[in-house]
Amino acid sequence: MCGIIGYSGPLEAKKILLDGLSQLEYRGYDSAGIALFDTLSNIRLIKRTGKVAALRQACAKEQDSSHCGIGHTRWATHGGVTDANAHPHRAGRVTLIHNGIIENYHNLTNEFGLEGKLVSQTDSEVAACLLDQFYRGNPLEAIKELTLHIEGSYAFCVLFDDRPGEIYGIRKVSPLVAAYTRSGALIASDLTALIPYTRKYFVVPEGHVAKLTGYKISLYDMEGTPVSPEIMEVNWNMDSAMKNGFPHFMLKEIHEQPQALKNTILPRMSKGLPDFTDDNIPDELFCQCTKIHMIACGTAMHAGMVARALMEPVLHIPVTVSIASEFRYEDPLVDQDTLAVIISQSGETIDTLAALRLAKSRGSRTLAIVNVKGSTIARESDFVLYTHAGPEIAVASTKAYSVQLAALYMITCRMALVRKNFTKDQAAAFLSGLLDAIPAMETMIARKEEEKHLVTHLINQSDAFFIGRGLDYAFSLEGALKLKEISYIHAEAYAAGELKHGTIALIAPKVPVIAIATQEHVFLKTISNVREVKARGAFVILLTKEHAQVDSSLADIHIRIPDMDDRFTVFPIAVILQLMAYYASIGKNLDVDQPRNLAKSVTVE
Ligand code: F6R
Repeated sequence: MCGIIGYSGPLEAKKILLDGLSQLEYRGYDSAGIALFDTLSNIRLIKRTGKVAALRQACAKEQDSSHCGIGHTRWATHGGVTDANAHPHRAGRVTLIHNGIIENYHNLTNEFGLEGKLVSQTDSEVAACLLDQFYRGNPLEAIKELTLHIEGSYAFCVLFDDRPGEIYGIRKVSPLVAAYTRSGALIASDLTALIPYTRKYFVVPEGHVAKLTGYKISLYDMEGTPVSPEIMEVNWNMDSAMKNGFPHFMLKEIHEQPQALKNTILPRMSKGLPDFTDDNIPDELFCQCTKIHMIACGTAMHAGMVARALMEPVLHIPVTVSIASEFRYEDPLVDQDTLAVIISQSGETIDTLAALRLAKSRGSRTLAIVNVKGSTIARESDFVLYTHAGPEIAVASTKAYSVQLAALYMITCRMALVRKNFTKDQAAAFLSGLLDAIPAMETMIARKEEEKHLVTHLINQSDAFFIGRGLDYAFSLEGALKLKEISYIHAEAYAAGELKHGTIALIAPKVPVIAIATQEHVFLKTISNVREVKARGAFVILLTKEHAQVDSSLADIHIRIPDMDDRFTVFPIAVILQLMAYYASIGKNLDVDQPRNLAKSVTVE
């Protein structure tokens, strides 16, 4: 949350910062601001509430004479959405932008007598004031002193008045990547802002300071000793981070799913079987555990719920799924016999990271399923299985969910093989079933126009219910989340058999019920539950396989996916649920890619 960028080099800084902020906007869009060194080495500050477009407009009159500056796009935590709370913050000789939370800012305000001096309500301004107090001409020493006092998470980029052309970057937990390019030196919260200039970059290590000048980037440890950065290379290009003719990133990313699945699965297939040799994941990791604990947030957690429903009957070991923010505080039953599977698109979600650290401290072996290369969760896990979705820009996750599932299905298959729950033939058949899900997804994407009309009823309603049993219930969870977050329709997912234990009281005439019935062994049971809601006047949208037998009077709308193995129906079903939410959001004229109050990459607790 919050996007930060810094640039020093021969080009015009204002343009680079504004373009970078547009790329980073999905990290927060409450306000935006930049600070620029002008030709007289004075620092100019421009900040506005609202999106980067508002800042761009405010900057239009500014001279294009600066070659060094920092920029920030905010997701408000401490203090409301006001110009004063927008970053950058200035205190004496220090100008600073921040992503993260300074937890002890209140105590620091008292301890250092800052009350009355602060002009914003932010924790970040407290850090700026302290840094100014500690600054005696040596940036590294002042930064070191600051880090000794502040608690919490942070990525800072700092300008000092008497150091024109220089930017200092430091981080703890919150991400920061940097690159020296032909266009100059850049530092940012994530790669999407760097990719127009370079494919090579490094992650600023925690406890190190990156110093950018127009000519180079230097990295120092806290004692001021120069350190060589570990250079990484990104395997996607600028096109992946553009809309490329689609009206929204979300629709583009829905379309990208079949390819993302191929990119994630095919390189890990050998002789028709899953093979993680190139990922350095040894089979003994899968053999030694007696239980699996999946930990994640939001959509990633829902991928875990699907995997749990899939894995337990195959592997015959307990599989638990925890919400990362709960796991941290519930004294979880994980130990050296547990395989902790950590799922995260960004690899930076702070609760998931903290849960990973807790699982490790209890002796569990950790395997992360992560999309962003070099992210903190990827680096701190014992093993990592990268998903290859490319950058996901829409705040609502779509392709990341599908590839997380693909990775989890492959893990299930490999585990079943090495633990002898599957013969080779069974494992090969499973993997081929997974590959068959890709054309099924393509079919549903090609039929997307059909989904447009089905939301006409939905968008006039304030509530919706998603029901299913077994795997179908796990899919429902994600369907409800997608609808809520981008169409603002209140939605709940229920195990179909559970409705009559209370929730059915909410089913009144016209209330939409999206019923998923793709699992053969519980099909008739689910259909009975659909009859129960239909009898109470619900507007039923039924999702089944092509040849499922159902009365035509049962559903108001019936969507059929291609006939396929029950275990893989999540892939085409996910497309339907994503498109349903997408068209509902469009139908209500909402901001699909940047829904209210949200931001991507949740780096605050
Ligand atoms: C919803 C969504 C979120 C994320 C969650 C975890 O569409 O995107 O629920 O899934 O914030 O994020 P990652 O996967 O980056 O840890």
